[in-house]
Amino acid sequence: MTLKLRIWRQDGPEAAGGLVDYELGGLLPDMSFLEMLDILNEQLTVRGEDPVAFDYDCREGICGSCAMMVDGIPHGPEPGTTVCQLFLRHFADGATITVEPWRARAFPVVKDLVVDRSALDRIIAAGGYVSVDTGSAPEANLLPVPKPDAETAMDAAVCIGCGACVAACKNASAALFTGAKIEHLALLPQGHPERERRVVTMVEQMEQEGFGACSNEGECMAVCPKEIPISVISRMNREYVRATLKRL
Ligand code: SF4
Ligand code: FES
Repeated sequence: MTLKLRIWRQDGPEAAGGLVDYELGGLLPDMSFLEMLDILNEQLTVRGEDPVAFDYDCREGICGSCAMMVDGIPHGPEPGTTVCQLFLRHFADGATITVEPWRARAFPVVKDLVVDRSALDRIIAAGGYVSVDTGSAPEANLLPVPKPDAETAMDAAVCIGCGACVAACKNASAALFTGAKIEHLALLPQGHPERERRVVTMVEQMEQEGFGACSNEGECMAVCPKEIPISVISRMNREYVRATLKRL
């Protein structure tokens, strides 16, 4: 199959960027989207041109590195899918596909499709961990966790920190990402001792990084490759209100 690609090229954070057209033939429907970009880059390198910079690591949907907009949708048109697990069979032969980096003030472009997502790391560093000594792994039944809490915590823990939720949101809000981390830790016994400090420091860091406020648009949930539910934002807000009221 043949595809026409319109790819955002930008030499660096301060450089002006723009869409550049490429045409790629001889593609197979079972190739992944990133394999297609690999082929493009091989051709560009052979021609002595600068290859397209893009992020990836695992290529199996677990690391969250492969951040890019495909036809205006974070991770492309397939629901519950990272762009590394998006295959060319989902596109029509001869289609034109526009590929751009995440667009958010807190995610400055580094080069081409690569953005700096370290703002998400700083939100985690502000409190998204358990610092109490939990000892070595105990016998599983010594620490009872209600089944619904365990299930809900694990549903939130699958967040891979890709930032698609931010890219989809008209406010560039990181509330789904931050809410997922809050919910994951707040529901488990190991997370309880730091529960109140955690939600306050993480929400404050989220605001300092320049992410916008949540206005319940729901775009984040619609594009999240791990289908994190928007209810994590409600829990984050409840946890935050409870923690700040106790401080008064
Ligand atoms: S909540 Fe979903 S879209 Fe947002 S960072 Fe986590 S996995 Fe990515
Ligand atoms: S490369 Fe790891 S999730 Fe896509």
